[in-house]
Amino acid sequence: MSDSTAGSDVPPPAVPEERGDFAGLVPAPIAGPFRKSWAWFDDRTGITGLLYKGLYEAVPKRGGWAYTLGSATLVVIIVQFFTGIFLLLDYVPSVTQAYGSLLYLRTDDLFGDWIRGIHLWGAYTLMLLIGVHALRTFISASYKKPRELNWISGVMLFFLVLAMAITGAMLPWDQASYWTAVVVTNIPHYLPVIGNGVRALWRGGDFVGPLTLTRTFALHIWVLPALLLGLIGGHLYLLRRHGEFGSWVNYRTTTDDPEKEIAERIRHAEPPYPTRGSEPRYSVPSETVDFFPDQLFKDTVVSLVLVIFIFVMALISGAPLDGPANAATLTYVPTPEWFYLPLDQLLVFFPTELIGFGVFVVVGIGATLMLALPFIDRNPERHPIRRPDVLVPAFFFIGTVIYLAMLGVNRLYNL
Ligand code: HEM
Repeated sequence: MSDSTAGSDVPPPAVPEERGDFAGLVPAPIAGPFRKSWAWFDDRTGITGLLYKGLYEAVPKRGGWAYTLGSATLVVIIVQFFTGIFLLLDYVPSVTQAYGSLLYLRTDDLFGDWIRGIHLWGAYTLMLLIGVHALRTFISASYKKPRELNWISGVMLFFLVLAMAITGAMLPWDQASYWTAVVVTNIPHYLPVIGNGVRALWRGGDFVGPLTLTRTFALHIWVLPALLLGLIGGHLYLLRRHGEFGSWVNYRTTTDDPEKEIAERIRHAEPPYPTRGSEPRYSVPSETVDFFPDQLFKDTVVSLVLVIFIFVMALISGAPLDGPANAATLTYVPTPEWFYLPLDQLLVFFPTELIGFGVFVVVGIGATLMLALPFIDRNPERHPIRRPDVLVPAFFFIGTVIYLAMLGVNRLYNL
C-alpha cells in the first residue's frame, strides 16, 4: 500500500444524518393490535428508526467471536445491577444489622443466598471478562486514532469496576469485610497533604466505624454505579460513532492495486464506516455483516454461556460469610480477593512503612501508562507482530502479574 493513502485521514461522510436515518423507511417491528400504539409512540420518539439503525449497522465480518467480550461485560454488569437491587431488599447498611440481615437472607429468604452467590460470581466473572476484553482491544491495537477515547473510557471503567469490587467486599460486615475496610480505608492516608483528610472523610473519623459503612455503602450503590453508567454510555456512543475496528485481519488487501481497492471500499462503505479521522487503509473493513443477526447471535451465545456459568457457580458454591465483625480480634489474617493478589504480593516486598507509597507508585504508574497508551504508541501498524515495542513489555508485565499471583497463593494458602 502506498504512502499517499496511508497519510491523509478520511473526511466525514458527506451527509452523515441522511446515511444513518432509517426513520420512515422501515416497517414497525410490531404487528397486530399493538401496531397503532407503536405508531403513536414512534411518532413521538423515532424509536423504529433508532432500532433499525442499531440493529443493521455494519460490523467487521471476521473475528466476531472476539468482539463478543464487550457485550458480555455489559450483560454481566446488568446482572450485577439486578442482583444488587434484590440484595437491597434485605440488606441493612448499619454496623449492628448488616451481618444479621445477611444471615436472614441466607436462612429465611427463598432465593436470597442464590442471589448473593450470583452477585459474587458475577463480580468474579466481570473482573476476568473486563481484563480479557481490555487485552483483546490492546492486541488488536483498537486504541489507535480515532479510538483513543474508547480506550481511555475503558481504562476508567476498569478502575471503576475494581472500586465497585472493593467497596462491595466491605458491606457484609463480617470479619473479612471489616478487616478489608480497615486495610483499604487506611490506604488514602499515604497521599501527600490531603491523605489524612481523605481517610477521615471515608472513615467518618479516625477509626473504622458506623459512618465508614454508611459512606462505603453510598459509594457502592450510588456514586460508583452512576459514574459507571455514564461512562458505559460514553464508551458505547464512541463505539457506534467510530464503528468496531475489530482487528488487522479485517483490513487486508487482496489485489495488486491496494490503493484502488481501499478507495473502492470507502466508496461502498456502509454506516458507520468509513471511520472519520482514521487512516484510509483502516477506515473500512474488507467485509462487513449486519450487527443483527450475525454479531448479535454470537454476543447472545457467549453472554448466555457466562450467565449460566454464574448462576450454576452461585448455586454450587454460593457466597461466603465469616463470623460477625470483631474489632478486638488479634489473630484474624485478612486475605485479599484473587484479583488483588498480585498487588498484595508485590507490597510484601516493600518495608511496612513504605507500603502505602508502594500502592500509589505501582497503581499510579500502571494507571498512567494505561491511560497514556494511545499517545505513547505512535506506531501506525496494527498487526501484533509488527508492534514488538508495546507487545513485549505488555506480555512481560502480564507474566509478572501471573507470577506474583502464584507467589501470593503460595504464601497465603501454604501450597
Ligand atoms: C464496563 C466495562 C466495559 C464495557 C461494558 C465495554 C463494552 C464494550 C463493547 C460492547 C464494545 C464493542 C464490542 C467489542 O469490541 O467487544 C467495546 C469496544 C471497545 N472497548 Fe470496551 N467495554 C468495557 C471496558 C473496556 C476496557 C477496560 C477497555 C480497555 C482498557 C475497553 C476498550 C475498548 C475499545 C478500545 C473498544 C473498541 C474495540 C474495537 O473497535 O475494535 N473497554 N467495549
